[in-house]
Amino acid sequence: MKRIVVLSGAGISAESGIKTFRDDDGLWRSHRFEDLATPEAWERNMQLVLDFYNERRKQLFEVEPNEGHRALVQLESHFHVDIVTQNVDDLHERAGSKNVLHLHGELKKVRSTKNPDLVYTLDQWELKKGDTCAEGAQLRPHIVWFGEAVPNISKAIPIARKADIMIVVGTSLQVYPAAGLLDYVPSSSPVFLVDPKAMASSYLTNVTYIKKTAVNGLPELVRELINAHSQ
Ligand code: APR
Repeated sequence: MKRIVVLSGAGISAESGIKTFRDDDGLWRSHRFEDLATPEAWERNMQLVLDFYNERRKQLFEVEPNEGHRALVQLESHFHVDIVTQNVDDLHERAGSKNVLHLHGELKKVRSTKNPDLVYTLDQWELKKGDTCAEGAQLRPHIVWFGEAVPNISKAIPIARKADIMIVVGTSLQVYPAAGLLDYVPSSSPVFLVDPKAMASSYLTNVTYIKKTAVNGLPELVRELINAHSQ
């Protein structure tokens, strides 16, 4: 089976009602990430950070995957599909994607501040000060904050190297090492970039730009890829 690798960002969840980061109404337009998504912020004001992720987690329990997420699931009947996502929502999984690798963590998971191997899944939205791990240490969001290592990049690189086709959807490609995954995709593999603000960039080769939203662009792209594959 041919292998399709998808690199997704906040834009694929925008039509589910989840804000992106750098659009005009994005999270980093109304908040300073330095106050909310760094280890220093956690040390400085734990409650503010807990509240920020509690609000986003609360919303996640209220939204659904969209036709963009669901289109990617359709690919799995004809291709081996790996989703490498920068998103911390679980909408790819809830749409039915089987192979999802989160580079920046998962909003519904929390982990021990003492032993990072102790990771728990929350079945409700709130993480409070005083919620502790089995070893009695405060739990924190299982999110990769700015300045922290991205452990899953070492799994994502070999996946990118094996891509026969690459789909990039809903990401400004401004955050590394995630954006650097494109450098590992074989130059012979076509890249399809789905983003309403897609800008041609000289550094990307073999790219087809689809200036559409995930919901408008992905179903059409998936149909074309399946038709081309079945011939
Ligand atoms: N469909 C597809 N793409 C969209 C849509 C949509 N409906 N709406 C917006 N976009 C595009 C925007 O044009 C932009 O290129 O999605 C992209 C969103 O970019 P960012 O807000 O920068 O989000 P992302 O690229 O995922 O950010 C990467 O930055 O703050 C960190 O950890 C955070 O994972 C995040 C990382």
